[in-house]
Amino acid sequence: MEDKPENKKITLEETIEEIRKDFPLLKEKIYFNSCSCGLLNIRVKSAIQEYIELWNRKGSPWDIWLNKIEDLRALFARFIYSEKEEIAISFSASSAINAVASSFNYKSRNEIILSDLEFPTVIYIWLAQKNRGAIIKRIYSKEYKIEPEQFYNKISNNTLIIPLTYLCYKNGYKLEIEEITEYAHKNGALTFIDGYQILGTEDINVKKLDVDFFVSGSLKYLLGSSGIAFLYVKKELIEKLKPIYTGWFAQKKPFAFDTENFEYAPSAKRFESGTPSFSSVYTTFEGIKIIQEIGIENISNRIKALSSYLIEGLQNLNLKVYTPENPKRRGPLVVFEAKSPEKTVKMLEENNIITSFRGKGVRVSLHFYNTIDEIDILLRTLKKNISCII
Ligand SMILES: Cc1ncc(COP(=O)(O)O)c(C=O)c1O
Repeated sequence: MEDKPENKKITLEETIEEIRKDFPLLKEKIYFNSCSCGLLNIRVKSAIQEYIELWNRKGSPWDIWLNKIEDLRALFARFIYSEKEEIAISFSASSAINAVASSFNYKSRNEIILSDLEFPTVIYIWLAQKNRGAIIKRIYSKEYKIEPEQFYNKISNNTLIIPLTYLCYKNGYKLEIEEITEYAHKNGALTFIDGYQILGTEDINVKKLDVDFFVSGSLKYLLGSSGIAFLYVKKELIEKLKPIYTGWFAQKKPFAFDTENFEYAPSAKRFESGTPSFSSVYTTFEGIKIIQEIGIENISNRIKALSSYLIEGLQNLNLKVYTPENPKRRGPLVVFEAKSPEKTVKMLEENNIITSFRGKGVRVSLHFYNTIDEIDILLRTLKKNISCII
């Protein structure tokens, strides 16, 4: 017997079909570039309009804006299972990392282990600390991945911190964060996770991972706009660290305007600096809400299914896939080799398929709004133009 319409359960597929209508660009294009910038949702667009309207109506509603920031801080804290006091709101991942890097004196422990899978900004910021006494130990990936042992071999009694990209922006490789963090802690070192290429696509619990620092921006899988990044700092570390990169928003009482006393905020706010990007606070709040409404487990399962299908399809075309087949070691980003990645991305763009490239790899990034049908179109287009790729 068929369910009466009102009793009929709505499937995830039907929900996604509905939500896809809220991303206007999906009517015109196939979008596989969320690793660079998430798609604009109409609710996110309305959020920015709400900010503009408020500004227009009230002129300078600082109290409303500052409350909205606290709402965002609380929302984000719950999203990664941390406490609100452990979250700083920065302008970019770079500014958040700089604030942390500026907190160390590089005296008793001064070694930093840096892998080539890190996003360049991470490498530049830690390399700059050489001017302040840091010693950099570099490690390099082999066959697009790095084994935890490569980190273990470099860790010493002098290791201060290990920046770890959770998922590599150029090949989609997911590092063994938990294992490396456990080993680092046994040796008195800290880990700093860059989760920009994964947050919003699977459940991330910073407490379970036991990491010391975690950073992510809002522009990609969180569906927000540029101008906002989040920094998590483990509670036990906060008051031990005194960032030199600072400003009035890092003070205990910024609105006291007291220039005779310097007092850091007791919370992670001490890693902030100046007036936040209020418009991005509005967009990011809405972006995270959308992710939560669909459900992070649903998103993660969907992306796993899509990426498995895509990898199999690429292999059937005899394309060399850089991203690991093992579902535990990959996330939303699938990368394959092309003789000219630039030309391949251009050819796909001419067919209304948006991708991107880094080095020799073409990046196909998946979010909940992508479908199997879209992957089929991508695979057919690649097959038709295979001579330009291999
Ligand atoms: C993994 C990763 N980390 C850091 C960044 C840089 O972030 P920001 O420009 O906010 O400093 C990016 C940007 O694409 C990234 O992909």
